[in-house]
Amino acid sequence: MNPQLIHPTIQKEFNMQTLVIVSHPYPEQSVAIKSLQQIAEQTADVTVRHLETLYQNDLARFDIAAEQKAHEAADRIVYLFPIHWFNLTPMLKAYLNQVWSYGWSFGPNGTALKDKEMQVVVTAGANALTYSEQGLIRSSMDEVLTPMKASAYYVGMKYNQPLAFYGAVGASPETLATFQAAFAERLQTPLGSVLLK
Ligand SMILES: Cc1cc2nc3c(=O)[nH]c(=O)nc-3n(C[C@H](O)[C@H](O)[C@H](O)COP(=O)(O)O)c2cc1C
Repeated sequence: MNPQLIHPTIQKEFNMQTLVIVSHPYPEQSVAIKSLQQIAEQTADVTVRHLETLYQNDLARFDIAAEQKAHEAADRIVYLFPIHWFNLTPMLKAYLNQVWSYGWSFGPNGTALKDKEMQVVVTAGANALTYSEQGLIRSSMDEVLTPMKASAYYVGMKYNQPLAFYGAVGASPETLATFQAAFAERLQTPLGSVLLK
């Protein structure tokens, strides 16, 4: 629901609903993503769905009706995953292929995601310098995440500045705590406040 459509006198009753879609191909080995998922699970008005926990690594088992319903109930949708070979996880890619279907998110009457906010949150083993024009990969994280940005705009979503946590392999408890604090803050930021410029 768009809070701007609500009369000011009842605005205070609006609770932004957030859906966090987590994907990690090896959940039992995850440290960084798991620590961020824990924050989401502790936050009010946040629903967490972990794809590999729900569907293992089976690219064809999604409960599409349930996933679409979860999206429809949310104002902001967070996609939380580790960067593996500068890409989305296989399950997240398959999920978009099947859940963001024709006639639902695009095509005739395909407006289910229109005006919702997309927030991408990733962990990466490399450091911030690597993800720069001067760095090894000569690409920024925003550029690596272009497919998410393009997909969001294609279906009429608003796209937030991605949140990237670098140096996530073997991160110390102190570093993980800073990741968690930044993620907690981003989860609570008001709608529209961190849109990509
Ligand atoms: C198969 C594989 C590919 C990876 N590719 C990248 C990569 O392209 N860029 C990068 O910065 N880190 C890469 N990493 C490191 C992961 O991003 C890192 O392990 C992860 O973000 C840490 O989160 P986790 O503890 O939840 O697994 C890769 C790791 C694996 C296992």
